[in-house]
Amino acid sequence: MIATISATAGSPLAIGPRQLRCRVLQSPLAGVSDRIFRGLVRRWAPDALLFTEMVNATSLELGYGLQKVEELGQEAGPIGVQLFDYRPQAMAEAARRAEAAGAFLIDINMGCPVKKIAKKGGGSGLIREPDLAARIMDTVAGAVSIPVTVKTRLGWCGSDADPVTWCRQLQHAGAQLLTLHGRTREQGFKGQADWQAIAAVKRTLRIPVIANGDINSPDDALRCLDVTGADGVMVGRGTMGSPWLVGQIDAALDGRPVPATPSAAERIALAREQLLALVAAKGNHGLLIARKHMGWTCTGFPGAPQLRHALMRAPTPADALALLDQAYGSLDLA
Ligand SMILES: Cc1cc2nc3c(=O)[nH]c(=O)nc-3n(C[C@H](O)[C@H](O)[C@H](O)COP(=O)(O)O)c2cc1C
Repeated sequence: MIATISATAGSPLAIGPRQLRCRVLQSPLAGVSDRIFRGLVRRWAPDALLFTEMVNATSLELGYGLQKVEELGQEAGPIGVQLFDYRPQAMAEAARRAEAAGAFLIDINMGCPVKKIAKKGGGSGLIREPDLAARIMDTVAGAVSIPVTVKTRLGWCGSDADPVTWCRQLQHAGAQLLTLHGRTREQGFKGQADWQAIAAVKRTLRIPVIANGDINSPDDALRCLDVTGADGVMVGRGTMGSPWLVGQIDAALDGRPVPATPSAAERIALAREQLLALVAAKGNHGLLIARKHMGWTCTGFPGAPQLRHALMRAPTPADALALLDQAYGSLDLA
């Protein structure tokens, strides 16, 4: 049980010229952190920095994925646009577009382990190309006036990982904040995130360092800040199906009462709301996206496994809604 609150909690987090009131960041999550998901996270965490899913700069150049960037203007609160690519000029152009759309900052993805991205030199591929990484950083920073940050991993693989040297290179190249996932590219999501390695990086950098990896509760966040001395934490998988987690961690770091985890009835209502919003935004394709969210949210009550099983097979949004309504009706709300 961890009781201490980070020394920096409560004070603003400065990122270049900008400031954040909240030291918990929502991870960029491809296929998950869309506008509708961010809206739910925002309900519990009005001041948190949230991120778009990663956006490929070359695709934007070709006219694909524009909506991921342009819809920011409709949202309250700070939102970072995360970009990935290996072409500096495409990244600079995408960053300009994101700035014009109202991004709070630009984050450069230098950690994505997906083979076809890394092989071309994007995402974690940049760990093996520090000169190109620096060029991208420099070109993007020169293109916008909002802060430019990097999210990366400890290294490519265990035997050659040197996170301190790598992160110092990124700082030198102009990164104004660094989020460090405490695993190598080779590890993917296996094993435990190495918070001690994040601590070693934090000790040597002057820019803010955000610790990432295996933070799934307010207690985890407090423990991680104790171990790493980081300036904040970023949470990813723990928020999938639990959009209240960022707000709960924020409250814990601030020493405020932690909002209650929603009841079964509230979770079913949330799943219903997300399904309706996704279908309104994306038509029947919204059902496919909603399925995974409903599967994550509908847990921890009698009949939840059967409900999830049925939701995954519901052929239409109306069928899925009927299942949720039936499950809601059969809860013992007394
Ligand atoms: C479904 C999924 C999608 C992800 N998409 C991105 C992404 O678009 N950009 C990124 O930098 N990291 C992405 N990540 C990695 C997370 O942001 C985070 O770094 C990682 O999951 C470790 O944090 P956690 O233990 O809190 O989940 C993704 C992870 C998952 C599971």
